[in-house]
Amino acid sequence: MRNQLFLFVLLLALSSFAQSFVVPKLPYAYSDYAPNIDAQTMEIHLTKHHQAYVNNLNKAIKGTMFDGRSLEEILLSIPPVAADALRNNAGGHYNHSLFWEILAPKSSQSACGSSLNEAIIAEFGNIDSLKKQMFSAAMSRFGSGWAWLIVTPTGSLKVTSTANQDNPLMGVCEVRGIPVLGIDVWEHAYYLNYQNRRADYLTAVWGLMDWSKITEKYDSAKANVKLLSRLKGDNKKKKKGK
Ligand SMILES: [Fe+2]
Repeated sequence: MRNQLFLFVLLLALSSFAQSFVVPKLPYAYSDYAPNIDAQTMEIHLTKHHQAYVNNLNKAIKGTMFDGRSLEEILLSIPPVAADALRNNAGGHYNHSLFWEILAPKSSQSACGSSLNEAIIAEFGNIDSLKKQMFSAAMSRFGSGWAWLIVTPTGSLKVTSTANQDNPLMGVCEVRGIPVLGIDVWEHAYYLNYQNRRADYLTAVWGLMDWSKITEKYDSAKANVKLLSRLKGDNKKKKKGK
């Protein structure tokens, strides 16, 4: 009986552990991102800011209908008047995880794949025009937020931006889509090195983009027919005012 009770408690502990979100490990050392982003900013950003989003997300979902759901499902299900804790922290975890994934030091970057390259040319003309639109979205974001390159529900590329920790997967956002590139424009992402010079930070962070990773994200978004049609369906419902 005692052994059974122990096993039950152990399983309970393991299952609750398995449902907790965790901060991902960076693929490179903090100092590898310098000089574009200094090591201290990278460390504080990951271990303090991102960690806080993860801790608060785990707290916010505990014992709720969101407990045990995937991060993507949580983001898609957040109602327009969601509690700030869930909306901010689920977004914070998703957005930062994507950000770390697409950044790499110059020596570790690989070129843009042909699929994404062709889509950029078709939508923006060239990568410089995309860069201009991304910088414009990032510069005009008042206060804190993100600039995004997304795959829209109809499969095209689009530049957009969101406030705070919102992202285009969320139903609360006007422009929906699957993010393939995101730029953090919170001051915590650059203040130590760049202070109020957001434009300088944008140039620096653009130099850390690993286009092969962004291509992987683009290919995977284009192949995610289920998610794209879910977003398309949400847009239709919104238009009908349901
Ligand atoms: Fe951040």
